[in-house]
Amino acid sequence: MKTQTAFTPTTEPVLSLTNYEVKDEDLPEFRDMKFENINQLDLDHPGANDAEYRRRRDYIASLAKKFRETGIITDVEYTPEEQKVWRYVAEELEEIQAKHASKFYLQAKKDLGISNERIPQLTEMNKRLKQLSNFRLAPIEGLVETRAFLSWLSWRTMLSTQYIRHTSRPEYTPEPDIVHESIGHIPMFTNRNFADFSQLIGHGARIASEEQLEELGRLYWFTVEFGLVEEDGDIKAYGAGLLSSFGELENAFTESVEHRPFDLAQVINTPYDYSDMQPILYVIPSYSYLKETTRKYIESFGKK
Ligand SMILES: [Fe+2]
Repeated sequence: MKTQTAFTPTTEPVLSLTNYEVKDEDLPEFRDMKFENINQLDLDHPGANDAEYRRRRDYIASLAKKFRETGIITDVEYTPEEQKVWRYVAEELEEIQAKHASKFYLQAKKDLGISNERIPQLTEMNKRLKQLSNFRLAPIEGLVETRAFLSWLSWRTMLSTQYIRHTSRPEYTPEPDIVHESIGHIPMFTNRNFADFSQLIGHGARIASEEQLEELGRLYWFTVEFGLVEEDGDIKAYGAGLLSSFGELENAFTESVEHRPFDLAQVINTPYDYSDMQPILYVIPSYSYLKETTRKYIESFGKK
């Protein structure tokens, strides 16, 4: 995750590592989130020189800003061109996912009602998430810095973009977009163990030293983004960076990638390069194992 801007929640409910319930009234005020220049595109972004794309991004960003004022998510009326990008990517991914994605994930996508036909709205996914694991999504206009992004997970909330990648390169995005969020991340939040694990990372981020935050960033990277899981004797993908990229997902199951059993001490000390294909991936034995191991690790934060 890249650094863009800082945010510290102003309310501080008591941290708990065992009570995973977060009620709507326990949430900090979204209006307290202050972001600047969060919607700027890098010069090498495929849409950087497309004035129409930039106008569209500004409009969708304005909806996220409005959400922070009102607490109400506005559905985006996606254009036929945006829907076309979605259909292309969703169909291509579905084919590779059938071979390599975690069974839980494949079922969860159906449970959430995500289809190849149209871009899902955060509001409809929120309704299902609330029933399944009491997780929620909040719109955001771009990347936020690591501690801020992870901290929201402690309130069982994922900040999620709503725009879609540029039409000139549907297979590629240098930043999260609605494809990465809804095809990559969101289905896994329907898994209670995974949702609890995400919340634990959020708790950790709020109390971590700078060094611990770096460790948490690696844990997040090798699980939430690039995690593999053992399922019925097979190895499958559950990480969003794998599940939302044709190239990464295929590559993850070639000879060039080493699969290692998940070892927390090793994972938090393994640096990664986000601009290249991953040479090493870690395999968890189960989502409950990941949750329990992470809980013990986060509990150690206060004791150091
Ligand atoms: Fe991601």
